[in-house]
This record gives sequence, structure tokens and C-alpha cells, in this order.
Amino acid sequence: MSKILVTTPIPAPGMDILAAAGEVEVLELDHDGLIERCASGDYGVVVSQLRDRFDAELLSTANLVGISNYAVGFDNIDIAAATERGITVANTPGVLTDSTADIAMLLILSTARRVVEADHFVRSGAFAGWEPELLLGSDVSGRVLGLAGFGRIARATARRALGFGMTVKFCPRPPSDREVTDEELGEFAGRIEHVSWEELVASSDFLSLHVPLSADTHHLVDERALWSMKNSAILINTARGPVVDEGELVAALRERVIAGAGLDVYENEPELAPGLAGLPNTVLLPHVGSATVSVRSEMARLCAENAAAMVRGTLPPHPVNSQAWNQAG
Ligand code: DGY
Repeated sequence: MSKILVTTPIPAPGMDILAAAGEVEVLELDHDGLIERCASGDYGVVVSQLRDRFDAELLSTANLVGISNYAVGFDNIDIAAATERGITVANTPGVLTDSTADIAMLLILSTARRVVEADHFVRSGAFAGWEPELLLGSDVSGRVLGLAGFGRIARATARRALGFGMTVKFCPRPPSDREVTDEELGEFAGRIEHVSWEELVASSDFLSLHVPLSADTHHLVDERALWSMKNSAILINTARGPVVDEGELVAALRERVIAGAGLDVYENEPELAPGLAGLPNTVLLPHVGSATVSVRSEMARLCAENAAAMVRGTLPPHPVNSQAWNQAG
């Protein structure tokens, strides 16, 4: 049985599933260490985290069967380079949809109603009783939620927003577009409106991002997009940090080009763009979209099952690049 390298232990039942599949070594490594271990030939599969960067340099010398990423996203891995090397990559889809949509809705509500400012106000002892104009926020009901993307998490967010009486618009593949049939719209047919990226940006009171990070979506929200938004609009990002030009976002928030931002992800995680942390019109979370006990446990199960399958010589249940498996096998 070939060894499994785990870069950070994963929650139960993940480690037990891995241990039943092969010898497990847990090693916290920097990038150079990861390059060295992946090239050593000692391991069949690596169980990785979003922090682990499998770039073209690392993959060019990697001697692995597969990488099982503990995440649904896989932008930390150069998939083209992995495929070229015959390395199968697997992920954890489907189990974090609702928890991430909950965080998107939480950011919509908490930015609209200034929850962080209000909490600080009470804790600081400044609350001296009810006042007619204390910490006034904006309404959510009747406002337009614009969804960039129309995948699982965008739909789950739409479901929640409709429950809050919001008007929902979406652009399925910004910055361009694609056809969406009534069949694909399903429960949303006649209830949400398909618009262009330009219209979505200009008409949203809350613009919520639900796109994977790719060359097309890198800095999707740039200076131009920010200046096209309403001055009263709020940007929500639970997708990936580099979808937003964070330096331009700080400038737009400072100059009140837009009213606020609710962020769970950052362009250079865990660093924040200079000035972002000092802005009161933001709610900032530490990438916790999937952070519930049950979701992280389900992610661990899927991740370990992917790794175990590859160690045993079978295609993992959730491959990202199954062509790599076929070509290696
Ligand atoms: C993912 O899975 O891609 C999330 O960003 C973290 O759970």
C-alpha cells in the first residue's frame, strides 16, 4: 500500500478512513518542503488544504497518483499541470452548499443592519437607551440581490433571499453570459430574472459573488465594476478573494463609491489589503463558509474516501480531472 501524506489533520471520520486505506504521515510543510515530499516517490496520495499551493513548478517534479483536496474549490492546484503529469485531483462537492449560502445571507443581513458596529457599540458601554436614529441600516426586503453565477451555492442563496422578500437577479457566467433553460431554472422559473453582467452590477442593491476563480473571473469586480454599482450597494464575497480587486474595493469603500462589503474571502489570504480592516462599513469573516461541525465532517469523509479510492487503485468518487486517471491507468 502506498503512503498517504496529510498536510493538516482532517476532522472525524476522515483520519480513520485514511488509516484503514494505508499508512498515513501527517506533516506540516512549507512550499519547498511540499515540493520535496511530492517528488520523493514515498507517497501515492496527498490530502491537501487550500493553503497548499500545487503550482506548475511543484507538479513538474511530483511523483504522485493523486491529490485529494479538502475543499470543493481547487484553485490552489494547477489542474492543467496535474493532468499533464497524470495526477488525479479530487474535491468535496455538494456538502457545503447550504452552509456557504447561510454565510452569504448572514453577510447580507449583517452589512445591511450594521451588526458588527452595533455589537461594538453595546460592548463599549456606549448604549444609553433606545434612540430614534441609532445605527440605522438599510432594508433587505424589496431590495435587489444580484447573483454572479448560478451554481449550487448561488441557488441556495436565491432560495434564502426569496424567503426574505428580496428581488433576485442573476448572471450565470459573468462577465459573459450563457443560456439558462426553464428546466435548469426549475423552482426559480418566473421568480428570478436572468440579466447581463453589466445590468446585474448596475441594478443590484446587494451583489453576491458565486463564481469559481479562473482567468475569466480574476478581478471580475474591478475599478470599473465598482464604479458602475449604486452608491448604496453592498458587495458580498463568499467565493474566492481574487475575484475582487481588493485594493480597488478599499478605495471604493473609502470614497463611498459603494456603501459596504461583507467578505469571507480575501485576495491574498490570510493578508488583508491595506486599510480594509479599518473600514467600519465592512463585515469581515475568516473564510468560514463551510465551517459547521457536520459540514466539515462530511467534507472529511468525502476527502478521505477520494484518497482511499486512489490508494486502492480506483477512480475517486469526486474527481476533478478524471482524464488524468484514464491516461495514467
Ligand atoms: C471550499 O471548500 O472551497 C471552501 O472555500 C472551504 O470549505
